[in-house]
Amino acid sequence: MKNILVVGSMNMDLSIEVDRAPKIGETLVGHGFSTAPGGKGANQAIAAARLGGNVRFLGAVGKDSYGTQLTENLKKNNIAYEGAVLENTTTGIAMITVCNGNNFILLDSGANDCVTPAMLEGKKDLFSWADFVILQLEIPMDAVLCAAKLGSEFGAKVLLNPAPYKPLPDELFPYLDYLIPNEHEASDIVGFAIETDADAENAIEALLAKGIKNVVITLGDKGCVYKDETGIRFQAAEKVKAIDTTAAGDTFIGALVSKLCEGKDMQSAVQYATHASAVTVTRRGAADSIPFASELEMV
Ligand code: RIB
Repeated sequence: MKNILVVGSMNMDLSIEVDRAPKIGETLVGHGFSTAPGGKGANQAIAAARLGGNVRFLGAVGKDSYGTQLTENLKKNNIAYEGAVLENTTTGIAMITVCNGNNFILLDSGANDCVTPAMLEGKKDLFSWADFVILQLEIPMDAVLCAAKLGSEFGAKVLLNPAPYKPLPDELFPYLDYLIPNEHEASDIVGFAIETDADAENAIEALLAKGIKNVVITLGDKGCVYKDETGIRFQAAEKVKAIDTTAAGDTFIGALVSKLCEGKDMQSAVQYATHASAVTVTRRGAADSIPFASELEMV
């Protein structure tokens, strides 16, 4: 089993469902409130672990009850928590509104903002242990850059999910073996809208030209597009009734990495990741909605 290091965020997700988006200044009655583990980093770590990876997690939580619940939840999912528990800050919070299967997320980063290059430099043993390093953008950019450099220096494959989008420094690109944006993030990076298949192809070529080795652009319920040795490929999403799309992208990434770690090619890994995220959207919540390998009947 290959070793996967996730460097990233942990949030407690406070979710509520509504039947329509509220207007500015309106108080709208919702239903189905829940408090449950989330954060893009932790969700991706849980997906990778549930789908076959040997996972360790590096991030930060506050010394509070949410922090304890989140680190306990990682342990329950067989993930070693190698991060900090900090006084004088709070655990990250995500306020999630789920509306007709889609979501809107507001973040208070809290301890996630305290992940620093110095903290990562002090954990070089984890980077030398890792075969794969997974990163997102809910921690500061200087920490992301440092983690990408360390992963690359120690010979691990480095994957970045650029969510939520922030401008990326040019020096980051050559360290990236995989970039997995959604169409909006990809569009922000390349500077043009992605509305057609041709736009998606052009975006992939523009990203590869920056020195990134592999790019997969996810397209929500349309599927994804990527390039392998045979050229540009489109993978359709499975048709399912989406109840809550929270963590669908995170599941895709954890599942993709777990298959790449098994030595599968991009096409098989993308098909498996597409199937895993289709299961996630049929369930409520973030980490709790991610399937186990035994629930997926393919590859
Ligand atoms: O990708 C979904 C995640 O985004 C949620 O779990 C929330 O915490 C935010 O980070």
